[in-house]
Amino acid sequence: MQTIRQIAMLRDAIAAFRAAGESVALVPTMGALHAGHIALIEAAKRPGRRIVASIFVNPRQFGAGEDLARYPRREATDSQMLTRAGCDVLWAPAVEEMYPNGFATTISVTGVSDGLDGAARPGHFDGVATVVAKLFNQVRPDVAVFGEKDFQQLAVIRRMVADLDFGIEILGVPTQREDDGLALSSRNIYLDEAERPRAVALPRALGVAAREIGRGGDVATAMAGAHDMLSAAGFVIDYVALVDAETLTEHPEPGRPLRLLAAARLGATRLIDNVAVDMQASA
Ligand code: PAF
Repeated sequence: MQTIRQIAMLRDAIAAFRAAGESVALVPTMGALHAGHIALIEAAKRPGRRIVASIFVNPRQFGAGEDLARYPRREATDSQMLTRAGCDVLWAPAVEEMYPNGFATTISVTGVSDGLDGAARPGHFDGVATVVAKLFNQVRPDVAVFGEKDFQQLAVIRRMVADLDFGIEILGVPTQREDDGLALSSRNIYLDEAERPRAVALPRALGVAAREIGRGGDVATAMAGAHDMLSAAGFVIDYVALVDAETLTEHPEPGRPLRLLAAARLGATRLIDNVAVDMQASA
């Protein structure tokens, strides 16, 4: 695996793949890799396809007072994991390479970015959309792979790709979980010994509420139950929301695919998770 830090060298490497008739997949990450990221690499693999993984802790998607300074950075370990997973290029630009002096452009995807994490973390999705657009222009992949754990992020990126005619296939990969159900996340390492067992209340609360709604149960009661389970575990809730799985609007029209999303803080750690609501369960 080559590690590349300059855009000009990245372009040369990609051009060599293209000259050999190979396609290119991009797996954007902020590093601190875990099995969830490796599942993205696995999903990207095809014969004749090269895989570029990016590691860039993007300052523009962290708000004031968020965890930019303490976000885990461990490129040596990440690099070993990517090599073992069969990645071809690690694209790891410095902040100055990504955002040189005078950088002045922001991409804002309205609508799908507005609620949920967009409301809880103002500017977050502008930062995500801007860096992902830059990564797309730097790598020019055929396909880019993202985890469904960041469900709103995936919807924002799909919207941006459609609106700006990127012509890149966006592949969403189901959330990878610990044995007890906690979604894998680079931020799980912030949880202390007392918090870690309580964190499982997040996927449990979502699972119970989603099954209840899927069985045709009262939505308000199911949502109140999820709030109660989270509060009992010590979470401070940012939101628990039932949304249209494509537009992410709340109060979805009957018959639309549904997704249940939540964000909540356990001590200093903010966790997000989401599950599909399978209305078939009511049949
Ligand atoms: O999901 C992430 O790790 C980041 O938001 C992404 C997509 C790499 C953009 O910085």
